[in-house]
Amino acid sequence: MKNQIIDVAILGSGYGGLGMAAQLKQNGITNFQVFEKAPTLGGVWRDNTYPGAACDTESHIYCFSYFPNLRVSKMYVEQGELLDYLQRFAQHYELESQIQYNSEITKATWNADEQLWDLEVKNAAPVKAKVFIPAWGQLNKPVIPDFKGLEKFKGKFFHSAEWDSSTDFVAKKVISIGNAASAVQYIPEVAKEADHLTVFQRSANWIMPRNQQIFTEAELDEFEQNPDKFFESRNYIHNFRENGFDRTQVGTAAQQEGVRVALEHLHNSIQDEELRKKLTPNYEFGCKRILRSDDYFPTLTRHNVTLVTDGIAEFTENGVMTTAGELIEADIIVFGTGFASQNFNGELDIIGNQGDRLSEVWADGAEAYLGLTVPSFNNMFLVYGPNTSLNHNSIVTMLEIQHQYIVDAVKYILSEDVLVDVKQPVFSAYNQDIQAKMIDSAFSSDCSSWYKNAAGKVINNWPLNVETYRNYTQFKLADYIVVSLEAKQGEPA
Ligand SMILES: Cc1cc2nc3c(=O)[nH]c(=O)nc-3n(C[C@H](O)[C@H](O)[C@H](O)COP(=O)(O)OP(=O)(O)OC[C@H]3O[C@@H](n4cnc5c(N)ncnc54)[C@H](O)[C@@H]3O)c2cc1C
Ligand SMILES: NC(=O)c1ccc[n+]([C@@H]2O[C@H](COP(=O)([O-])OP(=O)(O)OC[C@H]3O[C@@H](n4cnc5c(N)ncnc54)[C@H](OP(=O)(O)O)[C@@H]3O)[C@@H](O)[C@H]2O)c1
Repeated sequence: MKNQIIDVAILGSGYGGLGMAAQLKQNGITNFQVFEKAPTLGGVWRDNTYPGAACDTESHIYCFSYFPNLRVSKMYVEQGELLDYLQRFAQHYELESQIQYNSEITKATWNADEQLWDLEVKNAAPVKAKVFIPAWGQLNKPVIPDFKGLEKFKGKFFHSAEWDSSTDFVAKKVISIGNAASAVQYIPEVAKEADHLTVFQRSANWIMPRNQQIFTEAELDEFEQNPDKFFESRNYIHNFRENGFDRTQVGTAAQQEGVRVALEHLHNSIQDEELRKKLTPNYEFGCKRILRSDDYFPTLTRHNVTLVTDGIAEFTENGVMTTAGELIEADIIVFGTGFASQNFNGELDIIGNQGDRLSEVWADGAEAYLGLTVPSFNNMFLVYGPNTSLNHNSIVTMLEIQHQYIVDAVKYILSEDVLVDVKQPVFSAYNQDIQAKMIDSAFSSDCSSWYKNAAGKVINNWPLNVETYRNYTQFKLADYIVVSLEAKQGEPA
């Protein structure tokens, strides 16, 4: 049987993949298929069901501009409403029939004879596509570090992104390993139920007040009846967030102001001097993600919560032995230990037009032109690729900019019947430029963070603000080697 040939194969059904599919459709490109390894859509908002899971950028900017979330109930809205938004989005753009679930793409090989991507799909027939768009996300491969003795622990344990909803914390001793963006959201909720909660902190975090805003019915009616009101709020927040970008630049007045606000928040929340000291970060503001929480600090003052800053020596049958020699007992351990954020392609093997494997090309750290294209991996466009994550604004805005670029490129590829391959000098100059711009950024300063690799190179974050990324990210033919497919029939590209 001949393999199915489609114009575009999209990998993933989070904000990245769904927005891509909708934009292709809106632009008349309908011969595409979305491949999703999970049984349902939603990406991180399907996976992160831990109590308290919510966005920490304002919901008015955490949606697509062309599908505003007009009746979103809060500024920092919970996971359920975000998943509902994505489900409504897929319904509105009639995407469901083009999403193939339980279909992990395991291998993608550029087929030089046929000038197509050959895609191997777990549990399903292989597919051939003219264009391949991996929208695999940066934060969906949960990691539990390889702790000594963990296999001996007799209680229950799980990762924050794989929350076991059957867990009853009542009357239980609980340990949380990790205290960053995920943990500061579930810790207040777990503490309300557990007999005792011990929080292991390796590094303190810079935490700002969140100041939740819950919209009244009257406000929601107004947003719905007069979307200009919603966009006024959205634009204000976007600009406010853009102005806040300088907080991530070392030595700026804005960064100092960020430090002041965070320390004031800590002082207002915690009276105990020793606890305050433990909770005061010893690295640059902005080096890790700046957190937002109003209930994390107060939770640490509860009678049933202890903050431990000693290291983890090993796990035992009954809990964790600290490096200070104290055994902390637990019935349940929650790992808020983050994700394999730098392994963009995960298990997926991608082979380009020179026979190179993407994982080998990226052995010293992933790089792409504008986070989108890699030389010799022609007609492949990454969504939320290397150096496109942010600390200061909404990732969804970055994704929307990428979708527009890819639509322009795909239109050209399909109408002209060509392949496009980013020029090596363009790619190299771009990556040198953004790494040079990283020098003044707190992202490259000294702390452990998922933004940078073991060599200290920042490979996840974009070094500038969103509007600069928008200006950079315009599809220009001059950046690409363009090859007519007719001329190339039968030859390697
Ligand atoms: C808990 C949490 C909260 C966050 N909050 C915010 C926030 O407040 N603001 C913000 O800007 N960003 C936030 N982020 C970042 C978030 O990753 C992005 O905002 C955005 O949701 C990324 O969407 P995505 O589609 O690129 O990736 P994902 O949502 O990760 O989707 C990728 C999809 O690809 C699928 N997939 C992966 N590999 C394969 C394969 N080989 N074959 C088939 N399918 C595959 C996955 O199953 C998944 O469904 C948060 C992240 C997390 C984890
Ligand atoms: N919207 C939101 O509010 C929200 C919520 C969740 C996640 N997110 C996104 O997802 C990203 C990841 O967040 P995350 O909190 O899941 O992961 P993370 O930021 O990578 O944090 C992992 C936590 O685990 C600790 N840790 C890791 N390995 C450890 C080890 N071997 N021993 C002891 N402690 C260890 C880390 O300590 P160190 O700090 O010392 O490394 C840190 O506290 C965020 O930065 C954000 O972009 C957003």
